[in-house]
Amino acid sequence: MKKIVISLGGSVLVPSLESNNISRYVSVLKNIAESCRIFIVVGGGGEARRYIGVARDLGAGEATADELGIMVTRLNASLLIAGLGDAAYPRVAENYTEAREFAQTKKIVVMGGITPAQTTDAVSAVLAESVGADLLINATSVNGIYSADPKKDAGAVKHERLTPQELLDIITGSRMNAGANIVLDIVAGKVIERSGIPLLVLDGRDPENLYRAIVEGACTGTIVSKESSNPLLP
Ligand code: UTP
Repeated sequence: MKKIVISLGGSVLVPSLESNNISRYVSVLKNIAESCRIFIVVGGGGEARRYIGVARDLGAGEATADELGIMVTRLNASLLIAGLGDAAYPRVAENYTEAREFAQTKKIVVMGGITPAQTTDAVSAVLAESVGADLLINATSVNGIYSADPKKDAGAVKHERLTPQELLDIITGSRMNAGANIVLDIVAGKVIERSGIPLLVLDGRDPENLYRAIVEGACTGTIVSKESSNPLLP
């Protein structure tokens, strides 16, 4: 069975508690788990930003704000586990060793953030390396990686395919247009480059896009891989 790590942006899973998409994701993830082993890394979304904002207003430093963000990612991860029921390992993995241990049960493994000064994108890239994943998917609120921020620049072009080095160049800004929307953090970019694990960035606002990519091999986003072959094919 293929091993797939999915970075599920908080902005798509829990934009806010009231407008969460957890039940829509639960049914899609259960279907996907029938044909491959999946690991989910859940982001913080709007609630993380609210906590971080209040902490900053109270004078907290950035590391403290990050710790609060991590707690919220784990709360969101706990909600997803609650929704997945028996299909998921019942505890949020708090480090990569735990994630590997929990995976031995063959259940869906769910985790949130790990350490300050990074995002859950970095966690998902390290997790993919740690479990020897065949594919890393970043389900986010944009439908791929663009040459510039598509919300600000009408001329922004979507990259259908990038090499890991081209991705790193975009992230570090050496080939970036002003105002480009960076969908991954630098740690994630570096780990993707060194591991060589293919990455797919897709629009997670529709959970079905995950099913289409993983089960049907239909790619609607940006593929980042060293080889020109399609990593979605069996
Ligand atoms: P996210 O990675 O979810 O960031 O973690 P985000 O920008 O909110 O992403 P989306 O849109 O929800 O997907 C939320 C915050 O938690 C802290 C950071 O402050 C981050 O901005 N965090 C998260 C860490 O410090 N370390 C981690 O490993 C993960």
